[in-house]
Amino acid sequence: MTLFETAVRPVLFRVGGGDAEKAHEFTLDRLAGLNPRTLALLRRRYAVSAPTEVFGVRFPNPVGLAAGMDKNGVALPSWPALGFGFVEVGTVTAKPQPGNDKPRLFRLRDSEAVINRMGFNNEGAAALAARLEALGPIGVPLGVSLGKSKVTPLAQAVQDYLSSYELLEVCLAYGAAGVIATNTTLDRGGLAAGDLSRAGEAGGLSGRPLTERAREVVRFVHRETGGKLPIIGVGGIAGADDAARMFDAGAALIQLYTGFIYQGPALVRAAAKARR
Ligand SMILES: Cc1cc2nc3c(=O)[nH]c(=O)nc-3n(C[C@H](O)[C@H](O)[C@H](O)COP(=O)(O)O)c2cc1C
Repeated sequence: MTLFETAVRPVLFRVGGGDAEKAHEFTLDRLAGLNPRTLALLRRRYAVSAPTEVFGVRFPNPVGLAAGMDKNGVALPSWPALGFGFVEVGTVTAKPQPGNDKPRLFRLRDSEAVINRMGFNNEGAAALAARLEALGPIGVPLGVSLGKSKVTPLAQAVQDYLSSYELLEVCLAYGAAGVIATNTTLDRGGLAAGDLSRAGEAGGLSGRPLTERAREVVRFVHRETGGKLPIIGVGGIAGADDAARMFDAGAALIQLYTGFIYQGPALVRAAAKARR
């Protein structure tokens, strides 16, 4: 067991009487408040150098923070210090929006999984842009996930739904730099018995139940694009072995979210060293 698992996680999972979203906000607040000295200590402990170049961009290591953890970019300097080689902020929308009614985030502990129906709650693109401008470069590549505001009529959203095949053809034809595969799933397969009472919660499931499915999608995209499109593999990466297999399936980079909730920065480190 790591220090995170024995000392930090039990505290975080008790925040707000076990309310997962309160724990998330509490964690982001603490990370946002870290001083430069603490950041330097964390960096010394967790930073991993495993440089790689993808889309012509140099990454200090191939493990990134997935979208949704730091939607508004409030804790940006902390992510590289915790070992991440790149960061995806957002999803942000053109207009600020509150997201769905609470509760909307649930831990499924026995499955090392999460169900969320946050609904793209965020402070809006202008607030994020101002924050990024004030902060300057964070030392690792930064991506921004953009979403459609809920108030924008569906008819005006550009090609919101493409079949996966068409989504790949468009990427190749229009010279997309790469593709992120996958996200959460509505499927409820692979849950541990102790979590079945939660299976009925609406929303996207993430974490361990996704591991194999996400990897197979990455393998499919890699094969169908002849390896021409750099792939960021995400979904259920919960250990060095999962990370290694995701790279083997064709991912040039990987991202973590739910595994990080359960395992903390040791997982980032292990994953970053996992490429064979
Ligand atoms: C609470 C939560 C919020 C998320 N929010 C977003 C989001 O705003 N935009 C997005 O593209 N993905 C979002 N995701 C999906 C993650 O980026 C990731 O693709 C997914 O969780 C699968 O990876 P994992 O199994 O490592 O968690 C969210 C996931 C979780 C658990």
